[in-house]
Amino acid sequence: MDGRLVVVGSLNMDLSVTVPRLPRPGETVSGADVVRGPGGKGGNQAVAAARLGARVRMVGLLGDDAHGGELRAALVAEGIDDRAVGTLPDTPSGLALIVVRHDGENTITLSPGANDRLDESALRTLTAGTVAHRADTVLLQLEVPLPTVLAAARAARAAGALTVLNAAPLPAPDPLLYELLREVDVLIVNETEAAGLLGRPGGGSWTARAEQLRRLGPGTVVVTLGAAGAVAAGAGSPLTEPGFPVHAVDAVGAGDAFCAQLALALGQKRPLADAVRGACAAGAVAATRPGAQRALPTRAEVDALLARDPR
Ligand code: RIB
Repeated sequence: MDGRLVVVGSLNMDLSVTVPRLPRPGETVSGADVVRGPGGKGGNQAVAAARLGARVRMVGLLGDDAHGGELRAALVAEGIDDRAVGTLPDTPSGLALIVVRHDGENTITLSPGANDRLDESALRTLTAGTVAHRADTVLLQLEVPLPTVLAAARAARAAGALTVLNAAPLPAPDPLLYELLREVDVLIVNETEAAGLLGRPGGGSWTARAEQLRRLGPGTVVVTLGAAGAVAAGAGSPLTEPGFPVHAVDAVGAGDAFCAQLALALGQKRPLADAVRGACAAGAVAATRPGAQRALPTRAEVDALLARDPR
């Protein structure tokens, strides 16, 4: 798959520990050795898209610490254009403290560092005012400041790019979030984020809730359901993709692989059903391996899973 994609988002160093069970508040649980590796929803989605065959440009901010150098090197090693990734003096890079249960379930505590300094003025400077940079698709998440994501979405739309938002992590209720939803073409959320955006505990089927989310602005809404696959609502009838049975060991990065594959396929004007199915396959492969960027699949791996499990 070709396609040109711009990712505006976060870059974090991930410190990850696998534990037999997730600690409760006030509790200490011993786990395995720490695994350190590049992550951040923005960086992960950029790397996933590059491995899936896209030409990718990353827009983001790093600190001038050792992690910043490693995170940039990880992007460059994947052939990602890093010219719109800035480095801030006297600032730590983003850091994620991740605890992974043996079955793949996880919790993440984030120290945003430089990611939080990606304001609208920094976005303008890094992109010289051309966020979309001749891309088909601009892919956004919510680990950088909300006003910046809104500015990026508006610029992407004005340039005619498909604007895709992975609304993760979902911030506290904010009117800007609903303004942002009116500026995106495709929204990707998990079950918790979907319920948060709808502002009430879930009711009705997931496809019905995806339709309700469409009324907030995006023409296409995809709700990921973990191992159970995903549902989607777009211009045609809503659809359900049951997902791929795999042995999951770490779900960190699975959602990012999903978003990258979905954004690329829709940017290439593939039918929604194919895009969602490919995205479920990409997420499933990522979940079978530990870590974030190190777990992200190649195009060949995704195609192999799709071929093994024809529907
Ligand atoms: O989506 C997974 C990512 O979320 C991790 O890599 C971590 O950095 C957090 O941002």
